[in-house]
Amino acid sequence: MRTLVLGGTAWLGRHIVSAAIDAGHEVTALARGEAGAAPVGARFVAADRDREDAFDDVRAQSWDAVIDVSRQPGQVRRAVAALASRTGHCVYVSSSSVYSDSTTIGDDEEAALLPPLDGDVMQTMEDYGSAKVSCEHFVLDVVGESRSLVARSSLIGGPGDWSGRSGYWPRRFARPSNPERRVLIPDAPDVPVQLLDVRDLAAWLVRAAERGTAGIANAGGPTHTFAEHLEAVRAVTGFDGSWEVAGEDWLAEHGVEPWMGPRSLPLWLPAESIALNAHDVSRGALLGLRTRPLSETLADTLAWELEDPGERRAGLCDDDERELLAALLG
Ligand SMILES: NC(=O)c1ccc[n+]([C@@H]2O[C@H](COP(=O)([O-])OP(=O)(O)OC[C@H]3O[C@@H](n4cnc5c(N)ncnc54)[C@H](OP(=O)(O)O)[C@@H]3O)[C@@H](O)[C@H]2O)c1
Repeated sequence: MRTLVLGGTAWLGRHIVSAAIDAGHEVTALARGEAGAAPVGARFVAADRDREDAFDDVRAQSWDAVIDVSRQPGQVRRAVAALASRTGHCVYVSSSSVYSDSTTIGDDEEAALLPPLDGDVMQTMEDYGSAKVSCEHFVLDVVGESRSLVARSSLIGGPGDWSGRSGYWPRRFARPSNPERRVLIPDAPDVPVQLLDVRDLAAWLVRAAERGTAGIANAGGPTHTFAEHLEAVRAVTGFDGSWEVAGEDWLAEHGVEPWMGPRSLPLWLPAESIALNAHDVSRGALLGLRTRPLSETLADTLAWELEDPGERRAGLCDDDERELLAALLG
């Protein structure tokens, strides 16, 4: 099977390429090469998808499947224009961020979407959901629904998660910021968490490409509450310290952000976006997505967190957590 991965040099994309190679595909990865190298075993084609000629080196041959991870509408527009007639199947990695309502838990794929982004380029992450909607439209309109899978992924986690969202709690529990082993947590026990292991997502996308799986499907990890998630982290890390619970208003007053980014408490979501990571993911499961237990994802993520000293983009640094604990506990 000849598979073209558009991307394949970053995180999920590299896992997709590796999974396809493991499954015996002949894999080509197309990217600029700025995010890193494609995995060994893949043919690499260097191209800039912001240029109209980006696909000149890959459009002459035919592909059994094209798998695309882009978030830029212009890049997807050019890809489907060049490759729709050259591929048997298309798999597009979308996101649960395409939905306009982030307050209703359990919505399925029929829920209302954000308006598509106008134009080729998403300028800021504020437009991420709309950009993904626009990308989906290009795939569905040009390749067609019968030859496309649009996989709307929930939060992706696991080893290699540079965003820091899936790794913050395992790392924090394993390496408390203070000798008393206190950890600051938000008062948000019921917030849903659907962490999808990057390896499970990649394996499913590759199987879907092989089988010609078509449709639009939410794809999520096992659904847990935030409290259950933290209990699972406690079990995996053997944490024996105490949790110090801060209310949402107190955290907001002290400049602590929910969900992601610097000075944040990852995975916590306030009421107005509580359902961001809480969709009905049964269709993805029906279409073949298999997820490993959360404990396995957390254990492997912790191992990676402890061995990789690179930058993480979410959570509280030790100094900030100590200062916040002092303010909370007086
Ligand atoms: N993280 C989450 O929780 C989450 C949740 C839902 C969905 N998603 C989706 O999951 C996917 C993640 O993919 P990923 O981890 O592989 O990371 P990514 O950062 O989205 O990957 C972008 C890929 O496209 C390539 N690229 C970027 N600009 C390019 C250009 N101008 N021309 C050619 N190639 C270009 C990059 O390689 P070069 O820089 O080398 O060109 C890289 O391989 C995305 O679709 C994201 O929207 C993520």
